[in-house]
Formats: sequence, structure tokens, C-alpha cells
Amino acid sequence: MRNFINLKDIPAKDLRKILTDAKTRKNKRKKLNTLDADKDRPLKGKLLIQMYEKQSSRTRLSFHIAINQLGAGSITVKASELHLGKGGESLADTAKILSTYGDGFLLRTDSDKKIEDFCKNLTIPIVNLLSPSSHPCQVLSDVFTIEEIKNKPISKLNLCWIGDCNNVLNSLIAASVKFGFNLNVGCPKNYSPPKFVMDWVKKNKRKINIFNDPKKAATNADVVFSDKVVSLNDKGNKAKKIKDFKNYRINSSLMKVTRPKSIFLHCLPRGNEVSEDVFLGKQSRVWQQALNRVHVQKSILLYSFGKLR
Ligand code: CP
Ligand code: NVA
Repeated sequence: MRNFINLKDIPAKDLRKILTDAKTRKNKRKKLNTLDADKDRPLKGKLLIQMYEKQSSRTRLSFHIAINQLGAGSITVKASELHLGKGGESLADTAKILSTYGDGFLLRTDSDKKIEDFCKNLTIPIVNLLSPSSHPCQVLSDVFTIEEIKNKPISKLNLCWIGDCNNVLNSLIAASVKFGFNLNVGCPKNYSPPKFVMDWVKKNKRKINIFNDPKKAATNADVVFSDKVVSLNDKGNKAKKIKDFKNYRINSSLMKVTRPKSIFLHCLPRGNEVSEDVFLGKQSRVWQQALNRVHVQKSILLYSFGKLR
């Protein structure tokens, strides 16, 4: 049993194994319907419990499909529906109950500490569905999408992130170290990635390039990435933050400085950080990106259950 919490803590060879498995499984089920199980039903009979403390559309639905395709079953709960949510039961007892009934626990939370506490108390694997500091399932799936579209290893590509230095970027930075790709970040001065993230990059002898000029960041990019300026976990002055990012909008003029066959990705939901014409334009691959969550998350679950081929 293995937890899937942060990309930075997972060996690169295991991350690569997940992507390889996802590709094989995706190719094998081209003629199957959404809820048809893969022929080998590798998680047959297992119950996976999803819990959301925050809103989710894609993660919730894509995991529901992924779990069905693996031959397992799932139940989705809100923290507020459990005794835990109202403070009527401890996290330790809740974890014991989850481990008694379920075979895996999938959690979206507004507290990194809560994930740690669940880790200590669960006897079943836990998967991080988004926390304030990371969004590992999203980013690993995005690496898959990029390699699928570009048909080459991501280590040969230039990626550019324009926007807030948030949980998705933290995971993207971890991926850039694990997979060895070049990453430029374009953000306002006071919004750079946190020191602990940059120290970790340095410790791993890699470099992330930070620019305060979005055009410089996007020059020669193969992939331009963005996310909402205000995240679910943001507690600061939202209006000020949006104003601070006003010159960091991704539009067709910015896309002109990228490589000729560059693509645009966005984990969604979107805000004003990207123009309508780029978001719906020829370079955008956001729907393919969302769909691939299903395929990669299946292989993430198999990794957690020690069942990767
Ligand atoms: N990208 C993503 O995780 O979307 P949801 O918040 O809808 O799950
Ligand atoms: N950074 C965003 C990602 C949403 C999928 C958030 O945390 O709200």
C-alpha cells in the first residue's frame, strides 16, 4: 500500500510507471463505454471512499469513472455529512472506520495537516485530491496529456506557467524536477513560489526560471499553462490580487511569442486569467486535458494498491 500525496515524495521511476500504465490502459479501452470496466478489473471488489471539503467537478467525476473502470466501487461523502465535520468524532476514530469499511481514501481538503493526520491513522492508502500546497493528480495527468499531444518526452519541452504560485504550480515544479523539463514562471514580484519550494528545487540541483514579464516567460514555450488567480484556499484580499495580475492575462498577443505549435492548458475552472479566444482557440487542449484525468488516476490508484504492471 502506498499513499499518493505529493509528487516530490514519489520516485521518478514510479511516476513514469504510472504514465506508461495509463497509456496502455487508455489504448486498450478505445471501444468501451464510459463505465465499462477494463478487462482485468484490477480493483474488483474494492471500495474507495472519496471525501470533499471543497467544491469539485472534474476530480469528483473523473475519479468516479476511473474507479468504475478498475472494477471497484466508490462512495462520495462530504465532510459535513460525517460526524467528523461537526466535530462530533475524532479524526483518529474516523480514520479507523474508513479503514474498516473502505479499501482506499481519497481526500480534497483545505488543510495539509489533515492529510498528514489521516496518513498516521489510516491503514488504507490515501490519495490527495487537492490540498492548499499541491494538486498531484492534476499535474501528473497533465504531464501525460503533454506527452500524448507532443509525442515526445516532456524533458525535451519548454513549459511556461503564467499566473499565481499556487498548489497546481507547486506540483508542476515538483514534476519539472522529477521529469527534468524546463519551466519558466511568469508572475508579479510578490507572488513568486514559496522559499521552501525553491529550496527543494535547489537541493535537487534543478532550476526554475522566474520572470516578472509574462512575455519573457512565454518566449519559446511549447506549453503555456495557467490557473485561476484566486484559489479555493485563498484567504487574502482577492480584489487586490486580481488587480496585481492584470498584466498577466494570457491572450493571443502573448501566445505569439511561444513556439509555432505551442499548446495552452488550464486545469479549470477558469477565471479572467485567459482570454476567451485563447481558451477556445486552436491551441487550447483543455478538454483533452480534463478527460485524461480519468486515465492517469486509474494508474495512480493501481500504484497505491501495489498493482502496477
Ligand atoms: N481541475 C480540478 O481539479 O477541477 P475540480 O476542482 O472541478 O475538481
Ligand atoms: N488552484 C486551484 C485549483 C483548482 C482545481 C484551487 O486550489 O482552487
